[in-house]
Order: sequence, then C-alpha cells, then structure tokens
Amino acid sequence: MFFQELNNEQCKSYLVADLKAGAAAIIDPVERNIDRYLAVLAYHNLKLDFVADTHTHADHRSACTALRRLTGTKVFMHERSPQPSVDGRLNDGDELNVGSVSIKVFETPGHTPDSLSFYINKDRVLTGDVILIQGTGRADFAGGDAGAQYDSITEKLFTLPDETIVFPGHDYRGNTESTIGTEKETNPRIAGKTREEYIEIMDNLNLPLPERIQEVLQINQSEVDDDRIKFPMVAELNQVLQMEPETVKEKLGSDSVIIDVREKSEYHGELGHLQGSRLIPLAEIPASLDDLDADRDKEIILVCRSGARSTTAAAILKGLGFQKVKNLKGGMLDWHKKGFPVEK
Ligand SMILES: [Fe+2]
Repeated sequence: MFFQELNNEQCKSYLVADLKAGAAAIIDPVERNIDRYLAVLAYHNLKLDFVADTHTHADHRSACTALRRLTGTKVFMHERSPQPSVDGRLNDGDELNVGSVSIKVFETPGHTPDSLSFYINKDRVLTGDVILIQGTGRADFAGGDAGAQYDSITEKLFTLPDETIVFPGHDYRGNTESTIGTEKETNPRIAGKTREEYIEIMDNLNLPLPERIQEVLQINQSEVDDDRIKFPMVAELNQVLQMEPETVKEKLGSDSVIIDVREKSEYHGELGHLQGSRLIPLAEIPASLDDLDADRDKEIILVCRSGARSTTAAAILKGLGFQKVKNLKGGMLDWHKKGFPVEK
C-alpha cells in the first residue's frame, strides 16, 4: 500500500493507493489543492478510482465534485450526506477496495450525522473529525450530537486494535498521527469519561464558528455556488422546527404546503416524494420567492433526502419572513424507514 497525507497543513487529505495496480483513492480532498492531487496521481501513474469525504465539511470546500468532473472518478458519500450527485452511498460495514488495499467503512456519527471513518489495510483508521489527536471534533453544528459521538468513539473506534494508527481530518498542533491505544489512554476529552461527562464537556466548549462556514456548507451540502442565496448562520439552522415524520404524514392533503428542495432526478428517483409536494430545488428558491409569497401565511414543510438541505431552506425562508416553516426530520430517508407512502 502507498499511503500519504497530501496537504501538509491543518486540514488533512489522504491518498490511498496500490502502486502496482495503478489504483488510488483520495479521502477528504480539498478544493484549493486539486492541482497538487492531479500532479501526484500523474507522477505515480495512478488512476483515481474514487474520492470520498468523511463528512460534510464546514471549514473547507470539498474537491470531490470537481475531481469527478476532471477525472471521471466516482464520488462516495455517507448514506445521509446531503450531496445530491454521488455515485455511491456508504453504510456501516461496507467494504471498498483500492487495488489490493482493503477499506472498511464505519458509520461514526456525532460530529455530523454523516460522519464516516475508514479502516484501511487493517492497520490504520481515518477518523475525520470524530476523534482528533488528543481531542474530538465539535458537535455543536446543526445535526451534531455529543452522545452519539461518544458512542461512535467508545463502541466503534476504540474496539479496533490498540496499535491501529489514527489519522484525523485535522490537526491544529502539528501532529500527524496517533494510535487507538494512545487516544484511549490519554485523550483528555474522552479517556476515563462517562457519556454524561463527555456531553457536559462538549456542551461547554463555546468555540467560535469557522469564518467561512456559510459559503462552505452551502456548496458542500448542495453544490449550489450562487451568491444570491444568503446561507443561514448555524444558530438559525438550529432554530428550525424539526417535525417528526408521523406528524408530517397527518398533514398530507391538508392546507400545509410541502416543498421538496432536492434535485429533479432525486424527486423522481428511488426515494420518490411526498404526495402533493412541490419541487423547488434549493438553488431555485430565490427565483421562486414571488410564487411562494401567496403561501406566506400557511404552514410550509420543507423536505429533502436526509433533512440537511431542507433545514437550510427552512432557515432561508424564515430569514425572509415566512413565519410557519418546519422541516421534515430525517428527510425522505427516515420517511422510507417508517414505510410511509411515496409517489414517484
Ligand atoms: Fe468537520
């Protein structure tokens, strides 16, 4: 196996390759470094089999979509990733291969609902922002959950052999790697802490928000790169009322307006859509405001695949003075899990 961190900066991207087979994958590629990635691949004569993100990043623009456009590589994302155009969706236990190198996928939610860890070559694990070297990723963005993060770390990552090398998504202190054993013993956030203690610590971090969170989340969630949309602040996302699928089901056929903000291909795709819902992709919301104005005083329920893009849409509408906007919690994925009816 050929393995290399490619950025040499606080934000990490990892190349996993089989030089003999000429096959490669890049995990968490960063848009500003695309030229470097293409040069490294060309230098080693590698074909990029796939790219993947460990989660929806809030601090940098992902290069996955751009690399797909430039090289034809496949994009793999978590089942709950809000990214609309992906080639495969990853679930817990999935196995990927790069030439002869094995990669096992773990769902490790907490930092975000779509956080994944990649266990590579049975000797190292890419942990994204779930566990960092002597730290853990914040869990206070929309959809973050400190309790789930504790479970992901203690019940999944800490069950790997102690000598497993940990490569995190970030490091702010110049470290490059650790091991599961070291973090289990000495990570100040989690070593020896109960679940309750961990949640208490995470609830009281009071971290500032990344400067570019609006711009970055917007593009990473939706591929929408349109400055007419003012992306809501995290606090505004957290204020959106999340409605359980059962409650939304009771609203079908009522006076409530249901707006689906996915892409057209998703609306008519395998998950289908809610009966009576209107399709307005997230990027088209600004252009549709005149139409929506007639429903300004009605209850408006936003829907998407996993509930992330629609929470954004709900917060945008709230910011524009729509009072009764709600979000279908868990999106079409959870709707399906309940076995509720869809149209295609
Ligand atoms: Fe992150």
